[in-house]
Amino acid sequence: MSVKTPTLTQLPAWKALEDHYQKTRNLHLRTLFAEDPERGKRLTLEAEGIYLDYSKNRLTDETIKLLLSLAESVGLRERIDAMFRGDKINVTEKRAVLHTALRATKDQKIIVDGQDVVPEVHEVLDRMADFSQRVRSGEWKGFTGKRIRNVVNIGIGGSDLGPAMAYEALKHYSDRNMTCRFVSNVDGTDFAEAVIDLDPEDTLFIVSSKTFTTIETLTNARSARDWLLRTLKDDKAVAKHFVAVSTNATEVEKFGIDTQNMFGFWDWVGGRYSYDSAIGLSLMIAIGPENFRQMLAGFHSMDEHFRTTPFERNLPVLLALIGVWYNNFFGAETVAILPYDQYLNRLSAYLQQLDMESNGKHVDLNGNVVNYQTGPIIWGQPGTNGQHAFYQLIHQGTKLIPCDFIGFCQTLNPLKPHHDLLMANFLAQTEALAFGKTSAEVAADGVPDFQIPHRTFEGNHPTNTILASRLTPEALGKIIALYEHKVFVQGTIWNINSFDQWGVELGKVLANRIIPELESAQEPKLSHDSSTNTLIQRYRQLRNAE
Ligand code: F6P
Repeated sequence: MSVKTPTLTQLPAWKALEDHYQKTRNLHLRTLFAEDPERGKRLTLEAEGIYLDYSKNRLTDETIKLLLSLAESVGLRERIDAMFRGDKINVTEKRAVLHTALRATKDQKIIVDGQDVVPEVHEVLDRMADFSQRVRSGEWKGFTGKRIRNVVNIGIGGSDLGPAMAYEALKHYSDRNMTCRFVSNVDGTDFAEAVIDLDPEDTLFIVSSKTFTTIETLTNARSARDWLLRTLKDDKAVAKHFVAVSTNATEVEKFGIDTQNMFGFWDWVGGRYSYDSAIGLSLMIAIGPENFRQMLAGFHSMDEHFRTTPFERNLPVLLALIGVWYNNFFGAETVAILPYDQYLNRLSAYLQQLDMESNGKHVDLNGNVVNYQTGPIIWGQPGTNGQHAFYQLIHQGTKLIPCDFIGFCQTLNPLKPHHDLLMANFLAQTEALAFGKTSAEVAADGVPDFQIPHRTFEGNHPTNTILASRLTPEALGKIIALYEHKVFVQGTIWNINSFDQWGVELGKVLANRIIPELESAQEPKLSHDSSTNTLIQRYRQLRNAE
């Protein structure tokens, strides 16, 4: 890994952006559009069936030029090549970062530690496809001979959010004779509610955990085994009702799952980048191998676009640079993800992990504390629901919140007049956010004077509009790869490691220390701070109270 000197904020390209920000920060989108009637056509980009309109952003051609030069000066091109080539760019864990290999075509060669990983990827995909077909067709039977009707994925973080999000997103393509559920939280309510109406005889559990040591997942998996055996009363039933997805065969075996029924992946796939690996098995069972492969093809086409397209026409690069512009120069702290499609109702939760676990870092690749902002807070909900909840603050609050609006021209549920209404809102919101309504316009509507300031919309709120034809498996793959690469580009600019997650460790260690203090029958000797000690005591006193 090359040591980068000077640091980011000393780069001439950064300084040029700072100067440019001072000159342009008060420019209003109303002015930018008035001065350039073609802006809404010009500041757009179409690739791989994804149309990006970035014209409603507070930027000029000069801004883009300067941002592109920043991308060049941080060595983005070399970093992209290094990632795709399989260099160990996850330096703190000494691992390659090759989620792109999960969707490589059979004729590609990607070498990790002297070995081509593409054949292994396809071998696992083929095994997954075979297993999925057997479950879907009824050939794979439960212990008592019943066909499987329910699939429950047990996993957390990247071993849950990806398949759960994609299952919701692609529900239209799923086999409606089966149910698919996701259990993640160690709160027993999650498991209890997931199986409340299920029959163990026709239920298959997929225990998904990269490490197979995650306490939430193992606790839920043990409860699932107990639940199953309470009815089926024979340990041999486990083999018919449990499969595992993991990189850790030893722990899978220890748990009691036959490694014949294990689907593997590799340490070069990060948890939050893993749902197109075997972690997507529940999804593949739900939508079928062919749809899953279509999704992978979508990922792959965006990978190729990202790898080969000049930066000025590169969707992930542009989205990332626009994000950096707001994050680092305007001081925007959050980004709202606003899909106008009910099927994408878990997208923002998924992107939250993808982005925040990747770029929530405060030291750079050399271990130095950074003196600039890194990853933003990601949040959001599908439109139009959000409009009736939190959009007020985006429109008229005191914070700058750049938003990504994601929509589709065709609906999968053509129930008139819904889709046109949905899309009218989709379009109206970005228009209102950009242009607002001046006090003169409000007054001209005959609004009483005392209300005018309250009903005035400042506008100038930036948005990206991402539009595709239809929510297909392929389109979903493209959208997810678009965001994966956006996160990588931003991590590269901030010179951080987007592929480790040490920040989640301390809480796990401290919880392991507290567990016996809660479980012990004797009053434990506590040596935490006074707040934690008091809370533990209070919990112990009250948990069994009548
Ligand atoms: O604790 C964070 C984390 O390691 C995530 O990065 C990961 O996606 C999740 O836990 C689950 O990990 P595993 O798949 O190993 O159970």
